[in-house]
Amino acid sequence: MTNEWEFKRHRRLRSTPAMRSLVRENHLQMDDFIYPLFIVEGENIKNEVPSMPDVYQISLDHVKTEMEELQSLGIKAVMLFGVPNEKDEEGTGAFVESGIVQQATRLIKSKVPEMLVVADTCLCEYTSHGHCGVIHHHDVDNDESLKLLAKTAVSQAEAGADIIAPSNMMDGFVTVIRQALDDAGYKNIPIMSYAVKYASAFYGPFREAADSTPQFGDRKTYQMDPANRREALREAETDVEEGADFLIVKPAMSFLDIVRDVRNQSNVPVVAYNVSGEYAMVKAAAQNGWVDEQALVLEKLTAMKRAGADLIISYFAKDVAVWLQN
Ligand code: PBG
Repeated sequence: MTNEWEFKRHRRLRSTPAMRSLVRENHLQMDDFIYPLFIVEGENIKNEVPSMPDVYQISLDHVKTEMEELQSLGIKAVMLFGVPNEKDEEGTGAFVESGIVQQATRLIKSKVPEMLVVADTCLCEYTSHGHCGVIHHHDVDNDESLKLLAKTAVSQAEAGADIIAPSNMMDGFVTVIRQALDDAGYKNIPIMSYAVKYASAFYGPFREAADSTPQFGDRKTYQMDPANRREALREAETDVEEGADFLIVKPAMSFLDIVRDVRNQSNVPVVAYNVSGEYAMVKAAAQNGWVDEQALVLEKLTAMKRAGADLIISYFAKDVAVWLQN
């Protein structure tokens, strides 16, 4: 039988699972994931975050077991957030040697040295006002905050952190941290910059988990306006010039266009941060039986790869590991 029509038959390449996997363009693999962890001061604590089912704040005595579980799942990197008992105006807990992240880092590097420790470098979990820097005249002072951020980065490197990830969105943070790390002898510690971080409503559950909600105002004078695209490219360009080794785009899901733009503009590894609110929404819908959680999560994380992300920071990393094993 001859065909009277002329057109392309795209369905040829979708005929069977084997055919589809042969032509699949993007894949998730555990090497791509960084798992965020909330380390709380105190003993024998494992608190589930109410808005983030299966995500816990854990105390130091739970860290070794947690690392062993992550290793067995093939997760090779964690990002640490500290939840201290005491806070003050300057966020001292972020940069003291006895800080919770410094303690957790030393513990992980002594017990499970192969695990890569990415230290989130910010002050908001440690300041009494909940802002990411020092407050002067009701706003965060850029250059004063940089001094504390640099101290934080150096103390994290001293504790053994493998990667420093500054997230407070002060101008010049890569320059100042690079200089401070180099001066302290940490020339080989890379900087994973939260170069493009939007003032997003998707951070709500994280602020509950990390107890870092600003006590007044918001973060709009330092985090970016979600309406802006070219500004993201200026931020990314500046951070690469200043020496960033990785660029984070955050949040991920509503900003995949930005992930693609940053990927096209730059050749450093691009990291998509699949944030707390994105996690909470999926979990809530799944608990109601409204969506197929596994299919939905794999779809959206693959979309981040397709958009150009090399790495993904995600609270779903453990689930993905289990799903990929099956
Ligand atoms: C610290 C920081 C935040 C997140 C990561 N680092 C919170 C914020 O900026 O308010 C959010 C992560 C998430 O929502 O999962 N500045």
